[in-house]
Amino acid sequence: GFAVPTLGSTREPGSLLPSLLPLPTPFRVPLPIPPVPAPARHPDYPDADFHDLTDRVAHPEIVPGTRTEIWGAEGLFPGPTLVSRRGRRTVVRRRNELPVPTVNHLHGGHVPAASDGFPTDLVYPAGTGAMAGIPGMPGMPHDPLAATSVGYRDYDYPMDQRAATLWYHDHRMGFTAPDVWRGLAGFHLVHDDEEDALGLPRGDRDIPLMICDRSFGEDGSFRYPALDPTLLATPGVQSSFMDGVLGDVVLVNGAPWPVLEVSACRYRFRLLNASNARRYRLVLDPPPPGGGGLVQIGSDGGLLPRPVAHDALEIAPAERFDVVVDFSRYRAGDEITVRNAFGSGGTGAVLRFRVTGPVHDDSRIPDRLSESPGLDPALAEVTRDFRFQSRGGEWRINGELFDPARPLVTPRLGATEIWRFVTDFHHPVHLHLAQFQVLSRNGAAPGPYDAGWKDTLDLQPAEAAEVIVRFTGYRGRFVLHCHNLEHEDMAMMATVTVV
Ligand code: C2O
Ligand code: CU
Repeated sequence: GFAVPTLGSTREPGSLLPSLLPLPTPFRVPLPIPPVPAPARHPDYPDADFHDLTDRVAHPEIVPGTRTEIWGAEGLFPGPTLVSRRGRRTVVRRRNELPVPTVNHLHGGHVPAASDGFPTDLVYPAGTGAMAGIPGMPGMPHDPLAATSVGYRDYDYPMDQRAATLWYHDHRMGFTAPDVWRGLAGFHLVHDDEEDALGLPRGDRDIPLMICDRSFGEDGSFRYPALDPTLLATPGVQSSFMDGVLGDVVLVNGAPWPVLEVSACRYRFRLLNASNARRYRLVLDPPPPGGGGLVQIGSDGGLLPRPVAHDALEIAPAERFDVVVDFSRYRAGDEITVRNAFGSGGTGAVLRFRVTGPVHDDSRIPDRLSESPGLDPALAEVTRDFRFQSRGGEWRINGELFDPARPLVTPRLGATEIWRFVTDFHHPVHLHLAQFQVLSRNGAAPGPYDAGWKDTLDLQPAEAAEVIVRFTGYRGRFVLHCHNLEHEDMAMMATVTVV
């Protein structure tokens, strides 16, 4: 039997860290679209699309009238949007000009272990030479298997995977949360012929939306507990750090509550929740006549078999929902606000669309999107249980803290396995290397947001879910972890070594 737990907490997934400057006026700043760099050629990789990105400090104007220090690929937050074709190798050279080591992970990527961004495979800043030891949480074990580099690292992606919305972000052991909070995240899209043939909205009507929350200090800097010694000394802040950090300003593509002018036609939006800990319930206000305004066409792992119309979308950290919104269901001049029904005040708003006028639109949403045969539970050779639970004030998986050098599980390459997750708190559970399919939630059918191939599963307090996964392609070290980034940094992570 697969018991559904009854104990658990109904607390929010984190605690709010208030901004110390006057909050910007919503729906004034135009929605930024991250640049899409053209791939280059590199003699070392003659068959690959090559990108050369430098991680550096920059000071953009996020809140109008003030400057914020960010850390970003090419000094941008979000970083540039990389675009790959299925089956075409892509090599990303990431140079580190930041004051700390980095690790770059391609979230959702089906990539070799050496390019996955294992949390101890640090890239030290150029010129630092040998830095002693691996910074991590106190008492965390040293990792003798770490493959470190100095100055830059080439991440080599075969892109042997379906069209999907992937994203990249920092994954440094013990410091992912502050590094991502500072801006080390961006999109990496994969296209393929099957998707191209569908006639979905494309070009400037295919827009990635990175949603995340932040708080600002008086001087415009990002406010974060561990970056601010006065905060850590404040009673209550330690526990907010424990549960996950929530900001009071919602950024979309790095802009506070932006506005986008849209024509009265179909748009594809690739929604990504890049927040450290915040979950959102996104709704269109007003909804279009007849409802169902958010037509989901894809999940973390690519296109769904068929579109699914939603009135609301619940999105946990690291999840992606690919949706089409048809603004021809509104009238010219209408203003439609994307609200977060889980929030209130500022955190209850996300962005606004302003409908200009009708245009020619030959895009469509076919009834059949992509056939991707499911995995057969009868072929599963192992069933494994993972308890995401706190013990003694620490976030653990099966009672263990992250040990990079010692795998918690060692699936066989090619194996199909059933994994069961049980939680005591909000934990967005994320697996590297492989996409999975949800078989059940709390002993019943999968939930409304569990469709398709997933790499991140939104689990609420005292939930249990069963997924099926197949490990293909690559042996070596990967991880399973909570994508509440504060939980992750507090070692709610397990080494998964494919053998
Ligand atoms: Cu989005 Cu292991 O990470
Ligand atoms: Cu968690």
